[in-house]
Amino acid sequence: MGWQSKYVTEFPQFARVKRALEIGAGGFTTAIELSNRFHDKHFHGIDFVLSDLALKNLKAAPSNLTVLKHDARDLELFAEGYFDLVYSVAVMEHICELELHLAETYRVLRPGGSYWFWQAPFWSCSLGHHYRHSKVDCPIPDYAHLHMTRDRLEMHIIENGSTPEVAKRAVDFIYDRPDLSRMGRTDTRGIVESSPFEIAEWRDEVDSRYDPVGAARVLANNIYNVPEEDLLYKGAKVHLKKKD
Ligand SMILES: C[S@@+](CC[C@H](N)C(=O)[O-])C[C@H]1O[C@@H](n2cnc3c(N)ncnc32)[C@H](O)[C@@H]1O
Repeated sequence: MGWQSKYVTEFPQFARVKRALEIGAGGFTTAIELSNRFHDKHFHGIDFVLSDLALKNLKAAPSNLTVLKHDARDLELFAEGYFDLVYSVAVMEHICELELHLAETYRVLRPGGSYWFWQAPFWSCSLGHHYRHSKVDCPIPDYAHLHMTRDRLEMHIIENGSTPEVAKRAVDFIYDRPDLSRMGRTDTRGIVESSPFEIAEWRDEVDSRYDPVGAARVLANNIYNVPEEDLLYKGAKVHLKKKD
């Protein structure tokens, strides 16, 4: 099993789940893997983009998986209380208007149902810019998106040997893409706390790339007013519960 599927099956009451919804399923690899493995459950997967990879993978989708191209901020197509479990992996940091997503997720869960998600990387961590952040040739220095202005970062990328086209593509991606919340850990947690959910568990994940020199640069020129504590954390594993 891939690590995303393993994470989902770690959900404490996973064995009892009958209907589950994956938010932001991407290539649908996890939804397909879980549906193939757990025939006693019905999975639904939504994403507001059905990528070429998703369409290719979905040719082999099993019958206990329903796929929908849909926005996570509006789950009106599902009846209230329909799911036992909603889960997402590396999606929450992409959803702007998180309040809407949480309110809708709460509505489609049955009383006692859970939203189980892993969120990373937060905008407020070393790699929160998301631009080729898992690639060795990433041209963005850790934390630079938090302490350099857009123009300064674009210039920095050019000064370090990339073409102006590459630099422009990078800053356009970081600052203009609509599917990135650009929220740090504290703001995200504040929105979750204001939602109707009860936080059953919130496990902060430390940023293994945390660097005091980079953090000091952010604090010296803190463009987004990131709280100092946020710089320590890369992500969070979270269990939200709908009241019984
Ligand atoms: C980083 S990818 C993660 C994909 C998959 N969960 C995985 O772990 O491989 C984020 C996914 O969330 C989707 N997404 C972002 N905002 C969304 C929204 N408002 N509604 C539905 N899907 C969204 C994107 O299209 C993308 O497929």
